[in-house]
Amino acid sequence: MQIHFTATPPADIRLHARVVNQGAALAGLDNALVEGAAAARFSGRVGQVFEGFASVEGAVKRIALAGAGEPGAGERPLNCERAGAALTAKYLVSGETAMVLDLSDAGLSADDAAAVLLGLRLRGWRHDKYRTRLAADKKPTLTTVHVTGAPEGTEAAWEREAAIAKGVEFTRTLVTEPANVIYPASFVAACEEAFAGTGVGITVLGEEEMEKLGMGALLGVGRGSERESKLLAIRWNGGAADDKPTVFVGKGVTFDTGGISLKPPPGMEDMKWDMGGAGAVAGAMLALASRKAKANVIGVMGLVENMPDGKAQRPGDIVTTMSGQTVEVLNTDAEGRLVLCDALHWAQEQYEPARIVDLATLTGAMIISLGNEYGGMFANDDTLAAQLDAAGKTTGDKLWRMPLGSNYDKLIDSPVADIKNVGPREAGSITAAQFLQRFVKNGTPWAHLDIAGMVWASKPGHSWDKGATGYGVRLLDRFVRDVVEG
Ligand code: BES
Ligand code: MN
Ligand code: ZN
Repeated sequence: MQIHFTATPPADIRLHARVVNQGAALAGLDNALVEGAAAARFSGRVGQVFEGFASVEGAVKRIALAGAGEPGAGERPLNCERAGAALTAKYLVSGETAMVLDLSDAGLSADDAAAVLLGLRLRGWRHDKYRTRLAADKKPTLTTVHVTGAPEGTEAAWEREAAIAKGVEFTRTLVTEPANVIYPASFVAACEEAFAGTGVGITVLGEEEMEKLGMGALLGVGRGSERESKLLAIRWNGGAADDKPTVFVGKGVTFDTGGISLKPPPGMEDMKWDMGGAGAVAGAMLALASRKAKANVIGVMGLVENMPDGKAQRPGDIVTTMSGQTVEVLNTDAEGRLVLCDALHWAQEQYEPARIVDLATLTGAMIISLGNEYGGMFANDDTLAAQLDAAGKTTGDKLWRMPLGSNYDKLIDSPVADIKNVGPREAGSITAAQFLQRFVKNGTPWAHLDIAGMVWASKPGHSWDKGATGYGVRLLDRFVRDVVEG
């Protein structure tokens, strides 16, 4: 979606949209439209869209009104984003190719206006690359939005939001591409391409290097795959030289068959998005670098394919992690924690982070607990948890805090090694988090976000179509903006 700011939009565009606060008078509109909106019970409620036609200076215009809710509500600017997204949802495949968005006298701040544009753009993202026979009337048509009457400061605010949109779109692409296209090496290549010219530093470790470092847990997961495992680190140094970095760690299992503990066939195709944590980290790094965030941030991604094969690890195998702790692999399908434990340890050794946040599609149990509304958050630090929670509320990438504790931790003691990679069926998301906590150094604020329910949507949401949501990018970007950049 192209977004242009202009004082005088092209005259020949039929579709004209406005954003309306709840209860606001519809000033300057044709009386038939005002009555039509009232008859349709359009009140400016969030997400409402009213459409009418009016004759303006001799030409028939298609007029759309999108509700943004109450101006003073705590949900601003998120509600403005929903208004923008509702417009895209209605007109993306409508046949209209351009829209004039008139924001004059809409009662929006610059941040509100930029949020409308973010919603417009995010809701318009699609991945139609493989649909070669898409019917003409199902193809997106709306490509251009001419914004007029935007409040002062909107263009600068949009520059920042556009960087975030770019990050979200990159994540969605990585998550959507199937596992024959996105595997560890091609994930790295996609990042190298996307980050070219942004000024980030990129480090890639292959299996030989990881072997030398003793990453037996991560490497064990990739053993059954023909694809080489990778560890990818993307560094953005936008902060003061002596500021300790914030580190994000992502689970990047590019396909999870379960390994020898093979998953059942129905739904296995979903496991192409088992790299959603790494995808979110990559997208957040792209957003931060693109908007030149004043912060030192490093994204670390453990990239592995979990396949069954003659070389695959077996249930009962014992692996030695980079930290020296040994793990009894009881279930090769509990692979995410094995990837993350070495990535977490390496990140701490390498960077001495001020704080670590990991994101992972770690457990099906998380979806049973929270469904698709909240990501589960586990943290060893109340301040960090509160900061992440706030970033989630502001951006709509919501989190719900879950417990940790020594009684849960005992459940993963192994009789033959230091730890086992699965506990009992109960509290499966919590024991997975306990596993990770054993690899976090005392004193390092850490949060683990289990985003299994958030990466992929079976129906359209407020700023995404069904499919990849891009969850996590805005959360991390906002966290950096509010906490690290201050
Ligand atoms: N990637 C899965 C978790 C998952 C399942 C994410 C469904 C999204 C949707 C993870 O690797 C896994 O298989 N976890 C197991 C753990 C179990 C073996 C302890 C699970 O949740 O069943
Ligand atoms: Mn698994
Ligand atoms: Zn997995």
